[in-house]
Amino acid sequence: MHLLITAGPTHEPIDDVRYLGNRSSGQLGMAIALASCQRAWKTTLLLGPSAHQPPTHGLLEVHRFETTQELSDLLDQHWPSCQVLLMAAAVSDYRLPPGSRPAKTPRQDQGLDLHLESTPDLVAGLPRQNNQRIIGFALEEEAELKRRALEKLSKKKLDAIVANPLATMNAPDINAEVFFADGSHRSTEKQAKTDFAHWLLEEVADWLESSAAAGGDK
Ligand code: C5P
Repeated sequence: MHLLITAGPTHEPIDDVRYLGNRSSGQLGMAIALASCQRAWKTTLLLGPSAHQPPTHGLLEVHRFETTQELSDLLDQHWPSCQVLLMAAAVSDYRLPPGSRPAKTPRQDQGLDLHLESTPDLVAGLPRQNNQRIIGFALEEEAELKRRALEKLSKKKLDAIVANPLATMNAPDINAEVFFADGSHRSTEKQAKTDFAHWLLEEVADWLESSAAAGGDK
């Protein structure tokens, strides 16, 4: 088993000094990466800008990114040799179009209008071999969580999606459910992200085993 996991935010530069980002801390992804190593799975962690230090383990390789483009390049490089991708990174939805980034813009009293383009949907665009599985993450308001998570599961052609409420962001604990593309779902009580990481990988391992037993590759 070789697990690829992405974690943390992306930072999209506005100029040489400022950036657009989000409040993702990367803690959940880092906890999953460590739990994966503790299961003796070879693990590659692609980690965005985070105030937290990534874990260290003999089975863990860590690569850092800042922008969506850097994450995209790392995915192109590492995904072909991995079996499962857990796409926990909080990719920025918008960025300045390439080539339009100025050096430091002086402060202007009249404010600043920015023209932003949408970033490409990385997980939706990834190529896939028969034995590869992709699990996405959805962070939404509680009331819309299930509906939007199921929408993303199908739109992004994922094998499963971890649905978690906005309160997960930058918090030590998580209250999440996993929805699988076959219509099944699994939930657990609110718990520390480190405990959730072990629970999630146990669910993923069971699911891989049962899908292999039921006929294996898609
Ligand atoms: O931001 P959104 O709710 O659409 O994220 C759902 C999933 O899609 C996450 O797994 C996220 O990492 C991924 N994503 C992506 N590229 C984007 C936006 C989100 O791969 N530009």
